Amino acid sequence: MAHESILRRFDVPATILHGGGCRRQLAALVRELGGTRVLVVTDPGVAQLGVTGEIVELLRQAGVSVAIFDAVQPDPTDGNVAAGVAALEAHRADAIVAVGGGSPIDTAKVIAIRPTNPQPLPEFMGLHKISKPGLPLIAIPTTAGTGSEATKVAVITDTTRSVKMMMLSAPLLPRAAIVDYELTLSMPKGLTAAVGVDTLTHGIEAYVSRKANALTDPLALQCIELCARHLRTAWSEPQNHAAREGMMLAATLGGMAFSNSSVALVHGMSRPIGAVFHLPHGLSNAILLPTVTRFSVGAASERYATIARTAGCADHSASAAQACDLLITWLDELNAALELPRLSKCHGVDRTRFDAEVARMAADALASGSPANNPRVPTAEEIIALYCTAW
Ligand SMILES: NC(=O)c1ccc[n+]([C@@H]2O[C@H](COP(=O)([O-])OP(=O)(O)OC[C@H]3O[C@@H](n4cnc5c(N)ncnc54)[C@H](O)[C@@H]3O)[C@@H](O)[C@H]2O)c1
Ligand SMILES: [Fe+2]
Repeated sequence: MAHESILRRFDVPATILHGGGCRRQLAALVRELGGTRVLVVTDPGVAQLGVTGEIVELLRQAGVSVAIFDAVQPDPTDGNVAAGVAALEAHRADAIVAVGGGSPIDTAKVIAIRPTNPQPLPEFMGLHKISKPGLPLIAIPTTAGTGSEATKVAVITDTTRSVKMMMLSAPLLPRAAIVDYELTLSMPKGLTAAVGVDTLTHGIEAYVSRKANALTDPLALQCIELCARHLRTAWSEPQNHAAREGMMLAATLGGMAFSNSSVALVHGMSRPIGAVFHLPHGLSNAILLPTVTRFSVGAASERYATIARTAGCADHSASAAQACDLLITWLDELNAALELPRLSKCHGVDRTRFDAEVARMAADALASGSPANNPRVPTAEEIIALYCTAW
């Protein structure tokens, strides 16, 4: 019988260390990758926590020459990348270590490929636009999280056009990731909630995406299962090590899943909210997730029902349609339990600006390409209506 097989590509870091305390193996890993002069890329918040200091000390004790670039801002910009490249050149670094959430890791990914790919940054927006490998990068996440430590994706804001540029290219993939949940114990509740729902969204979107495949499905479902089991506890008991470790692993699994499947409509609509209102990425995802799920379930009800059963909010006696309804309720209740506000209640968001920007936000969402991976592909008018429902 004729059999049609679809060609897929799967990229993950060559090495992933995980487990509490594994960051202490950093220097050995740097040596393994041939690094002797390291640029540490981080942000002021992470530096203040003392994490950067510990990482730098681990490297210096092993005889590695270190310079620090700690000026990354949340939702990193083209300017952050340029300043990081200057620091890289000044130190003549041959390897990069990124420490922090998605913002420092994404910035470090783009800094690492600049020496070999000097074109203007906007040319990298989209899929597979970066051709040459860069310097070896080791990513150490401190949020759980974007999963950026395990993805070939970076999101950098083009400050001239006020657009969050999504770049997906294999050379952006860190050579190694050090996934040490102990670094997330310091996350305050609001951050735990936002980055945790970002992780859950990665699992859900990777699983329902039109690009979902046999290698990403088990990773996506494992991510969803861990989020369902651990996110509320990580939020209510910040020092619960089992919950923190569960969410850290969920983040890395979610990253591996969506980076080789795709994200979909939630992320497509979330980036324009971030660009216009400067809301944290996880928060803008959380605001959209129940509404977009309600819009999408009919087009992939069996897949959403599997998600509901994996999350434990529906059992096998429920029909697919019932399981989808239970999933939407569960997502609404999760946002409420994690005290994640609606869009209208977010700091710095006003209705006049929203009304003025919503059509452009919908156009930018469509232009990003992510909505085309959604089980139900929306029109611009439908996206505007979804933004208004999430308001
Ligand atoms: N590359 C990818 O695959 C991918 C996926 C999703 C999102 N992103 C991008 O990642 C960025 C968001 O990353 P994020 O959500 O991890 O946040 P972030 O990196 O912007 O960090 C947010 C804040 O949390 C602080 N922080 C970090 N770790 C902490 C800790 N352990 N304890 C206390 N505070 C801590 C930081 O100092 C910062 O002030 C966005 O730009 C988003 O677009 C990238
Ligand atoms: Fe995300």
